[in-house]
Amino acid sequence: MDEVSLWEQMGGSETFARIAHTFYEGVREDAVLAPMYPDGDWEGAEWRLRSFLEQYWGGPSEYSEQRGHPRLRMRHAPFAVTLEAKEHWLTHMHAAVDAAGLEPDLDYAFRDYIERAAHAMVNRLE
Ligand code: HEM
Repeated sequence: MDEVSLWEQMGGSETFARIAHTFYEGVREDAVLAPMYPDGDWEGAEWRLRSFLEQYWGGPSEYSEQRGHPRLRMRHAPFAVTLEAKEHWLTHMHAAVDAAGLEPDLDYAFRDYIERAAHAMVNRLE
């Protein structure tokens, strides 16, 4: 069972590259999110998100080879992840998943994951 990773079922690197790229096209134009990201390192940010997602979904482990343990809540602590920021982040991620055209079961599982992960990343509730 499950010998083929979810990463492979989703279309492998090509799918994750498309999701990360489409996501950042939206984020770069977003007045709430864009100022939070490091100036002039959009390619780096895109690589970090893509490689993390690939690793999480059973693909290559490049992310941890280069960045160590993800510890994502800790890594987000310097950024004000408010409910507003979460809604904006999810809007761009859902648009990116739309563009990937996943099979319905994979589409459902991936969106369920990003929604739960985004919920868990909120760190400013004032
Ligand atoms: C909820 C709203 C979120 C906001 C506003 C947000 C914002 C940010 C910002 C400003 C960065 C720094 C950019 C960089 O240098 O890479 C970052 C990094 C990152 N984010 Fe998020 N993020 C959110 C949710 C998420 C979620 C849900 C995930 C995973 C499913 C995620 C995965 C990552 C990863 C992998 C990095 C790079 C960490 C590193 O290696 O330094 N983010 N995020």
